[in-house]
Amino acid sequence: MVNYRPVINNGNDVVYLGFIDDGYGVLGIPVKDFLRHTLIVGSTGSGKTTTAAVIASQLVNYGYVVVIDWNDEYLNVVKSLGVKKNVVRDDIKIPIKFKNFEEFISILNEVLELSDAQSYLLYKFLDDYEDNNLSLDDLMSYLEQTYVESKWMVETKSALLRRLKMIYNSRTKHFYDLDLAKNLRSKLQNEKGLHIVSLRRLRDSKLRRLAALTLIKLIEEIKDNDFNTHNYNFIIIDEAHNVINSSLINRLVAEVRKLGIGLILITQSPSNISNNILTNCNVKILHTLKSSSDIEVMVRSLGINELRELLPKLKVGEALIDAPSLREVIKVRISRLE
Ligand SMILES: Nc1ncnc2c1ncn2[C@@H]1O[C@H](COP(=O)(O)OP(=O)(O)OP(=O)(O)O)[C@@H](O)[C@H]1O
Ligand SMILES: [Mg+2]
Repeated sequence: MVNYRPVINNGNDVVYLGFIDDGYGVLGIPVKDFLRHTLIVGSTGSGKTTTAAVIASQLVNYGYVVVIDWNDEYLNVVKSLGVKKNVVRDDIKIPIKFKNFEEFISILNEVLELSDAQSYLLYKFLDDYEDNNLSLDDLMSYLEQTYVESKWMVETKSALLRRLKMIYNSRTKHFYDLDLAKNLRSKLQNEKGLHIVSLRRLRDSKLRRLAALTLIKLIEEIKDNDFNTHNYNFIIIDEAHNVINSSLINRLVAEVRKLGIGLILITQSPSNISNNILTNCNVKILHTLKSSSDIEVMVRSLGINELRELLPKLKVGEALIDAPSLREVIKVRISRLE
């Protein structure tokens, strides 16, 4: 850190984002702002992933950071930024056992794009089994064994089983872990740092989406359980348009702050994001946007007409930052300062 530069938000618990516009100042954002969720937007190649890695490399000092790495790029980006300490690459498996199984069912519903009749059968399973800690295996054997009378139910049941077996079969079984909750809890507690979870090995996009959503859900359950730890947790979700409209993410951005989990969502298409997400992400980092519909969404969200002029002109690595601790939007050249 160079001392003679004026710093906005200087202090102990601050994440430095880079140089302010003219290069003579430095911008820091208090760590607490990141618990109020972050949205990073920008066209392809504008610098989003680099920005997220700059932030992640500093947030590791305050708790564990899990990166849902859609395209397996974080390891290289983090290396190129000179971050060497505390980086763990994890081939974490897909959890299939949950305390709150109902939300897992709604994840299955969205990922597999089930019909109303198929999802009715899933909820019937929940009605018949009230206990906690159910797993996908329990659900599959219930469906295989349960007797249904009407013709439409027989057909729906076999269609549903076919759909489930598309993602859960002998070829994919090694991607899943029934005991992940236990394993992940000790992993996250013992290996403090930046956990990069690679999703590219899951070729099927349904599997990737399922892996991303179930992992986020499990991290919430683990955090919810651990009354002793006061650490913050951060989850970085790159290429978030793949999961951003799920009911899980919509619920979490509204609720998760009280648990001490901060979400960092990254997407190139803000026009596909719900108002709920836009409103609940209190830190906004805007790289250049080219499409007028994307620009309009951000103009409306921040209430600043000048963005129409400014956003298309930003260079790679430049961003406009809005955060609860800032009095105005500040233009920054993103850079790792340590
Ligand atoms: N702050 C920065 N300073 C210098 N170079 C940068 C900066 N941010 C990004 N770059 C360079 O620009 C290129 C694209 O960056 P990055 O991958 O972060 O963009 P992206 O928006 O995530 O792209 P994509 O849409 O493909 O995911 C990379 O070569 C990277 O090194
Ligand atoms: Mg990227």
